[in-house]
Amino acid sequence: MTLSIQPLTPGFVGEVAGIDLTAPLDAATVAGLESGMDRFAVLVFHDQRITDDQQMAFTRHFGAIEAARGGNITRPDQQRLPVGMNDVSNLGQDNQPLARDDRRRLFNLGNQLWHSDSSFRAIPAKYSLLSCRLPATTGGNTEFADMRAAYDALDAATRAEIDGLICEHSLIYSRGSLGFTELTEEERAAFRPVRQSLVRTHPVSGRKSLYLSSHIGTIIGWPRPEAMAFIRDLAEHATQPRFVYPHRWRQWDLVIWDNRQTMHRVRRFDDRAPRDMRRTTVAGTAPTAAQIAA
Ligand SMILES: [Fe+2]
Repeated sequence: MTLSIQPLTPGFVGEVAGIDLTAPLDAATVAGLESGMDRFAVLVFHDQRITDDQQMAFTRHFGAIEAARGGNITRPDQQRLPVGMNDVSNLGQDNQPLARDDRRRLFNLGNQLWHSDSSFRAIPAKYSLLSCRLPATTGGNTEFADMRAAYDALDAATRAEIDGLICEHSLIYSRGSLGFTELTEEERAAFRPVRQSLVRTHPVSGRKSLYLSSHIGTIIGWPRPEAMAFIRDLAEHATQPRFVYPHRWRQWDLVIWDNRQTMHRVRRFDDRAPRDMRRTTVAGTAPTAAQIAA
């Protein structure tokens, strides 16, 4: 088998063929995938019937697995999947869809807002890998927005204005924007805001991108309403259809995206039927901005 990556658009999203993710990969293949990620920011694989262990082994080729702790309100004793896996399904431990008013379900509805995974962590994520074990019966597409193209399309005045700006990110902000505000003291402490640069530069390609996320709650040094109005404006710009790829899931698809260069969101789906999606996350290696001491 030979690895091939077919662009779905000239610079964004590649479709990968000639690879079996259940088998060990050689260094050249891994390097080919990394350079595909640097270029396309999103890679789509089909027909990859992987187990959780195989998904974690594949993920480790790109860096350390990010610990899921601090990223959700699901308690350790409620986890359906092994440590190292992020459960992005709508299921409880009994493999049945969560009740409509289940707190975990309401929290996870935040995934329908445009975001970058783990932008609420001081060291945010590098890649996310999402395996579709069982697609939704209706809806449930994941959309990806190219934040490099969005940056490139900004006018010079806006680019100058955002240069050097630092935002605060927290799960408290994204969930709060949906009206999910009931958090315990412990959750509030775990979701304490962190600081991120609004503009990032990719370490390999050198391309700049807008680092937006619904986790943003303010811009440091700005009046909050002014900051949020500006962030909304930038997000509206960055998620125009010309920058967006909608992925319609087939069973055993696997999609990798670079959180440093993209935003994504899941679209509404029929929540009464099981939708089993399992994510692994590659940890980032450095903060994008200095944090304030705790
Ligand atoms: Fe996500």
